[in-house]
Amino acid sequence: MTLYGVGLGPGESDLVTVRGKRILEGADVVYSPGRLSRSVALDHVEADVIGDLDFPMTRDPEKLRNAWKEAASEVAPVAADGTAAFVTLGDPNVYSTFGHLRRILDAFHPEVDVEVVPGVSAVTAFATALGVEIDAGAGLALREAAGGKSPIGPDRQILFKVTDAPATHEGLVEAGYDVTYGRRLFMEQGETLVTPNPADVAERDYYTLAYAERRGLEKDRPTAFDGVAGESDVDNEEVSTGD
Ligand SMILES: C[S@@+](CC[C@H](N)C(=O)[O-])C[C@H]1O[C@@H](n2cnc3c(N)ncnc32)[C@H](O)[C@@H]1O
Repeated sequence: MTLYGVGLGPGESDLVTVRGKRILEGADVVYSPGRLSRSVALDHVEADVIGDLDFPMTRDPEKLRNAWKEAASEVAPVAADGTAAFVTLGDPNVYSTFGHLRRILDAFHPEVDVEVVPGVSAVTAFATALGVEIDAGAGLALREAAGGKSPIGPDRQILFKVTDAPATHEGLVEAGYDVTYGRRLFMEQGETLVTPNPADVAERDYYTLAYAERRGLEKDRPTAFDGVAGESDVDNEEVSTGD
């Protein structure tokens, strides 16, 4: 009946949402595109529920398209007769492989309903891990920095796919940014690292991001509640925006 795209969060199994866990526990088959997502899923379901999908290690678009078509043909009958789940780290709709599967299912297996269970994305988890506060009213751009790229422009940027931190760092610092790197944040496997030093994360690891903030950015952080009596008022929707 349904294929659920389930976001597992950044990589610690207790950061899976309650809804995600419920869907995984009720699924006939749980498909996973990689080793890390599989290991998180295995904290919630038995190994015999995990379905195998083969993805070639290639950037060739034709080969990848064929692999996704095959994956869709494998998943579709399971989802048509019961409940299947496809897990991704973070959120299934943020820079994720799930989009390929959904598009192919829409085109070739329209009988399968697809639903998404959002997950805690690295886009938001980074803020806690790096001790960053994105104030109300501030902008935050999500960009890619693969291959040593240094995207510039917005005052605050979260950069995914930092594969050559020293090269990315050079460009960003020259353009006037302060940069902090985060590696394997909230992840069970591998060592978590938070550092302003690109040399610490020079060795390539796919699960590396960076937060770049324009140097000397004015922070207009009001002490708005200084004059407001009582903590309960802070939660009052008339006082705060509720966000
Ligand atoms: C293809 S994107 C997937 C994003 C994922 N769907 C999400 O919502 O977080 C992969 C990139 O996200 C970043 N990333 C994802 N999880 C991370 C983590 N736990 N720690 C650090 N970076 C992470 C890295 O920059 C990595 O190259």
